[in-house]
Amino acid sequence: MHQAMPDNGHASSDILQQLEAFKAEDPNYKDGKVWSLVYYLDEDHSEFLKDSYHSFACENGLNPTAFKSLKNFETQIISATADILNGSDEVCGVVTSGGTESCLMAVKTYRDIAKDQRRVKRPEMILPETAHVAWFKASEYFGVKIRLLPLLDDLSPDLGKLEKLINRNTVMILGSAPEYPHGTIDPIEAMGDIALHHKIPLHVDACVGGFILPFMEMNGEELPLWDYRVAGVTSISADIHKYGYAAKGASTITYRNLDYLKYQMFVQQDWPGGVFASSALLGTRPGGAYAAAWATLQYFGKSGYRKLAADTLEAVNRLKAGVNAIPELEVMGNPQGPLFAFQSMDADVNIFAVGDQMDAKGWQVNRNQYPSGLHAMVTAQHLKVVDQYLADLREAVATVKANPALAEQGGAATYGMMTHIPLRGMVKKKILDIYAELYKAGGGSVDLASESADGQGESPSLLQKLINWYVKRQSRKLP
Ligand SMILES: Cc1ncc(COP(=O)(O)O)c(C=O)c1O
Repeated sequence: MHQAMPDNGHASSDILQQLEAFKAEDPNYKDGKVWSLVYYLDEDHSEFLKDSYHSFACENGLNPTAFKSLKNFETQIISATADILNGSDEVCGVVTSGGTESCLMAVKTYRDIAKDQRRVKRPEMILPETAHVAWFKASEYFGVKIRLLPLLDDLSPDLGKLEKLINRNTVMILGSAPEYPHGTIDPIEAMGDIALHHKIPLHVDACVGGFILPFMEMNGEELPLWDYRVAGVTSISADIHKYGYAAKGASTITYRNLDYLKYQMFVQQDWPGGVFASSALLGTRPGGAYAAAWATLQYFGKSGYRKLAADTLEAVNRLKAGVNAIPELEVMGNPQGPLFAFQSMDADVNIFAVGDQMDAKGWQVNRNQYPSGLHAMVTAQHLKVVDQYLADLREAVATVKANPALAEQGGAATYGMMTHIPLRGMVKKKILDIYAELYKAGGGSVDLASESADGQGESPSLLQKLINWYVKRQSRKLP
């Protein structure tokens, strides 16, 4: 049922109070218990973000010649980004609304370059299996076929297979710094050599790493090269609203030079509404996000970001060591940045059940699949909760080991089922059902962790059968 629009407006003070009240059911990220989605430092920083956002909340960056302030912010943000990414004076780019927009833009750009310069009609791109979902979205949106680069045992892409995937339809190759699922920095130097040799653009998805890896390196950390110092790298996406600690709605897409960037532009000269040009996906572009991103860069400067990177790394290193010290668990692959994932090495410890236990203790941890694991996107704020997290994790593992049936309940059963069912089309349909429920007229609600996530249009008993099948299968093999 639709909720009608109020007949008359309410006092702003009442509404502001209501807005605060709405937060009661949301994740409480201020105490460091949330491990994704939010990059929170403290109330002072949040207030600063809000004030800087508010000062330009009504301004629109759609037309870069109208609000010169916004174009100025954008130019300065891109220059600062090129600086920390070790780009030359020719590196140029656009501020976007987020990592996904930056990734989408790169795919559109390289598709159009290949079409224009090489007459490629059936574009393809090569993505490591760990590429962020934004790249899969871009493939669907822009009709660019994916050629997946498999992983080696250490979860890094198998470069031995890269050259075999290249053909005349290849419009771009992707590497990540780091990739989201396990925090691995892909071997960008080696990928750059191959890309250069075949004259194919190489994009580095540094949406996560772009505003922390450079500062880790400035602090003396030894990291592989992944930025514009690698000759084959033609573009980089780097989010300011992640480890740049800006307000939501700020990422960057930069290119080695304007020859690439101009293919990102859209122009419609014959529109009755006037000649229209745009540099990225959005029409109206939120001035507040630009102002807050610019303000944050000014606020921290390199020294501030170096301190944040040092705190984050200390937290990550202590967490990784603490996880590896739990005999049943192991950090996955070779994460070098601010995030990592871990898996169970013990057949009696279902990692998703461990996740349920952690949830019950108030933590919000994301689940990985292929292989199953738990994920942590670590920020400077998490330094203060490292010991508590590890103590709770040890307890969670002990609880699950003592009660293996926990693998068959709640979120563990649902996530396990979704991960292991070979009928992937069925899982996709299920998720679409859940989204349809959420977005139906009037809005619905579903609990992903409940096994009866209410399969509209599909027999619940079938779902139950799938869960039972999975649980039986699980009990015979390692989680
Ligand atoms: C590597 C990587 N690329 C792209 C994105 C997409 O960023 P956003 O959520 O800002 O659209 C993410 C998000 O976590 C990411 O980790």
